[in-house]
Amino acid sequence: MNVDADSIGYILALESSCDETAAAVIDRDLRVLSSVVASQYELHRDFGGVVPEIASRAHVRRVLPVIDEALTAAGLQLSDIGAVAVATQPGLVGSLLVGLTAAKTLAMVLDIPLVAVNHIEAHIYACRMVADVDTFPCIGFVVSGGHTNLYDCTSPVDFELIGSTIDDAAGEAFDKVAQILNVGFPGGPAIQKTAEHGNSKAIRFPRTFLKEDRLEFSFSGLKTAVLYTANGVPGSHVKPEPLTDQRVADIAASFQAAVVDVLVGKCKQAVQQKGRDTLCVGGGVAANSLLRHKLAQMTHREGVRLFVAPTSLCTDNAAMAAIAWESLRRGHIASLDLDVTPGLVRHRKANSKVPK
Ligand code: KG4
Ligand code: ZN
Repeated sequence: MNVDADSIGYILALESSCDETAAAVIDRDLRVLSSVVASQYELHRDFGGVVPEIASRAHVRRVLPVIDEALTAAGLQLSDIGAVAVATQPGLVGSLLVGLTAAKTLAMVLDIPLVAVNHIEAHIYACRMVADVDTFPCIGFVVSGGHTNLYDCTSPVDFELIGSTIDDAAGEAFDKVAQILNVGFPGGPAIQKTAEHGNSKAIRFPRTFLKEDRLEFSFSGLKTAVLYTANGVPGSHVKPEPLTDQRVADIAASFQAAVVDVLVGKCKQAVQQKGRDTLCVGGGVAANSLLRHKLAQMTHREGVRLFVAPTSLCTDNAAMAAIAWESLRRGHIASLDLDVTPGLVRHRKANSKVPK
């Protein structure tokens, strides 16, 4: 399909990579006309995590109403849409397939271009959407429930993975610690709120930097340290301190401070190693106010430009799939036999083939 991106007014974007069914309409100037997110929070809460089969079934039920709602809120009809974008990687395979099937159907029926979006790259692009200036090249950092990934981003379509977690993602650590402390789900916002009343210096939790020059993360040791602090070390006769509200708040604050120290430290290392003067941070954990504050301090000291996604675009949404405009303008159109890629792709270059 030959496409003149300049003739397109609006993109309809779909997101269903995990447990949010989302649709958004974005115009060519990256203005978000509508962004609808149907969260499945209440369906997974009792399990303390996302159940893939429940997630994909919920996407099936919700995807069409969510698309309708996004179009209505934008004041548009399907015939106004010039291209359809969809997150095809990474994510839960059954969840991704629901969004992709809906997007392909729309592309075929409306005879409009289909654009594949990498969910992780879209999290970083959320920063570009509210910046009045170009944010590339940059170090891109996605810190979410599934990923803690550092990228060297030469352009909006050229991302090289330069660091990730060897065990838990940062958001996963927040969620598990929230379970241990019994403060709620999803864990990130619950820990942040509980930590407000706590002393972040009460417990000195480990900061795992692994090898100094490496950009990898590890949070499983920290998670275990929190577990032992809260419940006691298995086999030990030493009783843990009673989990009073104050003790829980102190553990939450001390844990949050340890995670943030590592996240900020590795961002600093990445910027220095790659000689970049810009850092863009997105993903659910980027909504954390301590992280935002510490990142601002670090980048100020280092003379680095910092762009953090607005909190409304941190957790999963379809508006950040506005990155599809970058693909569209470069002629990166997917064919209708496009498939999902549940795992991570380490390097995607600007001139690499569009995934089929
Ligand atoms: O980006 P996201 O919606 O989903 C993934 O792509 O994974 O991120 C969800 C994660 C959850 O682990 C949640 O606990 C965490 O982001 N999160 C936070 C905060 N808000 C959400 N973590 C720390 N502080 C927050 N304020
Ligand atoms: Zn995400």
